[in-house]
Amino acid sequence: MLSLLSLSCGLAVRAAEPPPADLKPDMMTHYDQVSRARDALVRGDLRAFRNQVADLAERLPLTGLPGEARPFEPTLVSALLRAQAADSIPEAAERLGEIAAACGACHKQMRVAFPISESAEPPQAEVMRRHAWAVDQLWQGLVGDSDEAMERGYMLLSETQLYAPGSEHSDPMVLELQLRVHDEAASMLREGQDRDARSASYGRMLGTCSQCHALTGGGPGEGQKDL
Ligand code: HEC
Ligand code: HEC
Repeated sequence: MLSLLSLSCGLAVRAAEPPPADLKPDMMTHYDQVSRARDALVRGDLRAFRNQVADLAERLPLTGLPGEARPFEPTLVSALLRAQAADSIPEAAERLGEIAAACGACHKQMRVAFPISESAEPPQAEVMRRHAWAVDQLWQGLVGDSDEAMERGYMLLSETQLYAPGSEHSDPMVLELQLRVHDEAASMLREGQDRDARSASYGRMLGTCSQCHALTGGGPGEGQKDL
């Protein structure tokens, strides 16, 4: 009798909870804000990065998250707060990996069918566009918790030739950064299965892109959308 009573009480409480809110508009804003933070980093713009993560942190906590999802939000909040305090590009890149992994952890728990972009990889000759495409696959792989997207990104990054020795950017540091992109990708293809390893690797990868752009004066322009 007692257990029946408590069972019916439990049900009554649950029925009184408001129906889950539509999270999609908030999630699209999440995605937009972290993607802008990422683009700012690839450009080497630390200030714009910090502003974007601060804006996202201010929108949290979200109201209307289902109960099962709520325990995952504090991880995102603390990653955002740490990111706001980052004072170098490599550190910010590392924090960004943590942010994306925190998004992915909740999506995995909630079995979200994350809409991974199906765009085809750019042609061989467009080396940097290929890099941008691959890094975007890693990004979606982390945020959307997709092994397939991760693998597509690392496959391409492990293969693409950036600059041959003797080309206009043959300074040893540039060649070293190019090798770092390849090595990182190859080692992740071999052994990068867990989320923490992926998050850390994403940060190192993005830091490498950004460092080489600072050195060569290359990189995407502000407002460039295809990253
Ligand atoms: C606390 C849990 C949680 C966290 C943290 C979270 N999400 Fe989500 N996300 C969800 C849920 C639940 C859905 C499914 C919403 C739906 O289909 O109504 C979702 C769906 C999405 C979608 C797909 C929306 C669509 O149109 O199908 C995107 C994009 C997204 N999230 C981006 C992000 C980004 C970027 C972050 C990190 C900055 C993030 N989310 C963090 C719970 C979370
Ligand atoms: C070895 C140095 C180097 C590394 C590493 C590097 N880049 Fe670049 N990137 C450049 C240079 C130089 C340019 C400008 C000339 C060009 O487009 O080839 C450039 C340009 C770009 C552009 C603009 C391309 C366009 O069509 O306007 C994007 C986007 C880009 N890089 C993304 C990336 C990403 C993402 C990574 C990390 C995986 C990366 N790059 C790694 C040197 C590098």
